[in-house]
Amino acid sequence: MNNSQAQPNFEALRREFPVLERKTYLNSGSYGALANGVRAAFEAYLEERLLVGANWDLWVAKNESVRALIATLLHASPDEIAVTASVSAGLNALASALHFSAPRDTVVISDFEFPTNAQIWHAQEPRGARIVHVPCASDGYIPLENFAKAIDERTQLVAITHVCFRNGAKLDIPGIVRLARAKGAKVLLDCYQSVGSIDIDVKALDVDFAAGGMVKYLLGTAGIGFLYVRDSHIPSLVPTSSGWFAQADIGAMDITANRPAPNARRFEAGTPAVANCYAAEAGLKFLLAVGTPAIERRNYALTQRCMQRLEEIGWPSITPMQNERRGVTVAVPSRDCGGLMAELGRRNIVTSHRDGNVRASFHFYNNDDDVESFIAAMQALRDSFVNLTQSLR
Ligand SMILES: Cc1ncc(COP(=O)(O)O)c(C=O)c1O
Repeated sequence: MNNSQAQPNFEALRREFPVLERKTYLNSGSYGALANGVRAAFEAYLEERLLVGANWDLWVAKNESVRALIATLLHASPDEIAVTASVSAGLNALASALHFSAPRDTVVISDFEFPTNAQIWHAQEPRGARIVHVPCASDGYIPLENFAKAIDERTQLVAITHVCFRNGAKLDIPGIVRLARAKGAKVLLDCYQSVGSIDIDVKALDVDFAAGGMVKYLLGTAGIGFLYVRDSHIPSLVPTSSGWFAQADIGAMDITANRPAPNARRFEAGTPAVANCYAAEAGLKFLLAVGTPAIERRNYALTQRCMQRLEEIGWPSITPMQNERRGVTVAVPSRDCGGLMAELGRRNIVTSHRDGNVRASFHFYNNDDDVESFIAAMQALRDSFVNLTQSLR
């Protein structure tokens, strides 16, 4: 199956994820379910360690394979992809290559950011960076007009999340990119809460940078991520956060100079997280074989059904209803999120909670039965846990 319009056999694919036999797994926004093939990849790594010892060439090849697969996923070139240890590592490498001085000293971030995409920019304040936060409107969403007020001629970078980890809201990226371009600013997209769950084309979105990781919708593991850097920006960006795997010639072993790679590998550092590369490669291959357009259609159908059913039981989610304004997490406000999550857990329903909301995150391996199990449990728990005072729609 490739990225065509053909419908994958989702019920057959579901059988590749053993946890789904035991749990209603709605926690892909934290960690994706483990596929048999990803487990086998981890085992292959261990097997080679036992039987071959250190298979250095294969390890490096695995890292390159992950780079190429990420490039395919994002519709970018492998030369534009750095394979990183985390989103945080990629952002730190990028930040280290930027200079914050007049007239372009400002980084604009939003109130929807995951902490790392705020803390790392605030960490640049001693280097001259000025950080501007774009606030939510009274309905809890961040409209384009709020970005328009914040982005100006001082803005060097607009660093924004694609989908908010707390409430599932999706920002208007094309609109924000237009605003940034009009003022000569660049855009960094933190797509960790969207990549793999919806189709992402960094060229069509026209972002300058994008960062994400493998443990959520990409079916891989923690400890490995990526940074996309548009090719035309690479020559002028020289990270001060570096290492031997960031050099033009990894084998040069030259201790007299820093000679960064001509491509996005200059944003890497040391020895790749080899075991994680095995898992990430297997996860990415699985995902690409299913096809992100089909996954996106499936995920929007499941989440829409879930939100409609929540309305019917009188406990609506706060996640915006329109597809343009949301990802694949459904956030439901509760007066006791921890208690609600624990009660759901007792019913074998795996969720998470953030900021006063229980999060149900869907992926292609979920089905309508999962939606109904969640709804039945929520209906039973409604009177003890409901909170209808929060807003975002
Ligand atoms: C939107 C978003 N960005 C960044 C991160 C953190 O990424 P990392 O731990 O790889 O730095 C997360 C983790 O949940 C996230 O949801």
